[in-house]
Amino acid sequence: MAMPKELFLISFMVLLCESAKVKKFPTYIQKCHQNDVDFENCLLKAIQNVKPHLINGIPEFRLPKMNPLILPEVGIDAGAGFIAKFENVEIYDADKFIIQKFNVKLNENKIKFDLSFPHIRIKARYFIFGKVMFFNLDGSGPADGNISDCRVIATMNGQRYYQQDKQYLKLTEIVIDDIDFGKPNFKFADLFRNNPELTDQTNKILNENMPELLEELRPTLEQTIGNTVLEFISRVFTRFSLEELFPK
Ligand SMILES: *[C@@H]1O[C@H](CO)[C@@H](O)[C@H](O)[C@H]1NC(C)=O
Repeated sequence: MAMPKELFLISFMVLLCESAKVKKFPTYIQKCHQNDVDFENCLLKAIQNVKPHLINGIPEFRLPKMNPLILPEVGIDAGAGFIAKFENVEIYDADKFIIQKFNVKLNENKIKFDLSFPHIRIKARYFIFGKVMFFNLDGSGPADGNISDCRVIATMNGQRYYQQDKQYLKLTEIVIDDIDFGKPNFKFADLFRNNPELTDQTNKILNENMPELLEELRPTLEQTIGNTVLEFISRVFTRFSLEELFPK
C-alpha cells in the first residue's frame, strides 16, 4: 500500500494540537495491571469491551470509524508488468473480528496477536493493467468482494521512549507470522467495457484461481494489511504512556 503519508501527517498534526488538551481514557475500558498474573486474559476482555465501539470510532484513541474502514488508496505492484490500484477502499465488518490472542510482552516490547475475520466485504474502485493468467487486462470500474474466514497472525516490535518523563512504546515494525486469505469471491465490473459476457467469464475464472493469485500477491498484501494494522494499534500507544495503559 502507498502508506497514506497524508493521513500520517494529518494524524501527527492532530496529535500535536490535541496533546495540549487533557487526555481521557475511554470510560468503558477496564485497565489491566501489568503485574497481574491474569494480565493476558484481562487484555482479551478489555478488547472485547472495545469491539462494539469500533464501529463509530474511538476518539480517545484517535481511532476513526471502523465500519466501513476507509483506505484512500491501495496499490499492488506484482512486478512482471501487472499493476492494480484500488481507490476509495471501503472495508466492511472488519470490526467484527474474533481475537484468539493478544499478548503484550512489555519486557520485550513485543505484541503478538492472532485475529480472525468471519466475514469482510470490500468495495473499491479498481484499475488493473497487465497480464493476469492468460488475460491481458486493462480495465477499471467498481470492485466488490466478500472474504470469509480470513486470519492474521503477527508480531509487532517496538522500542521505549520518554516524553515528559513518561515511558511510551513506539511500535516500529510488524512481522506477519501468517495470513490465511480464507474464502474470497470478487467481482470486477467492466473488466471488458461493452462486453459483459467476457467480463463475467473472466471474473469466474479469476475467482476459481483466486487462491493462487493471492498467493502470488502475498508479499504485497501482507505489507498492506500489516501496515494498516500497525498504524491503528500504534495510535493507542502514542496517545497513552505505558503506565497509563497498563498501570503497575
Ligand atoms: C457480497 O455479499 C453481498 C451480501 O451478501 C452480496 O450482495 C454481494 O453480491 C456479494 N458480492 C460478491 C462479489 O460476491
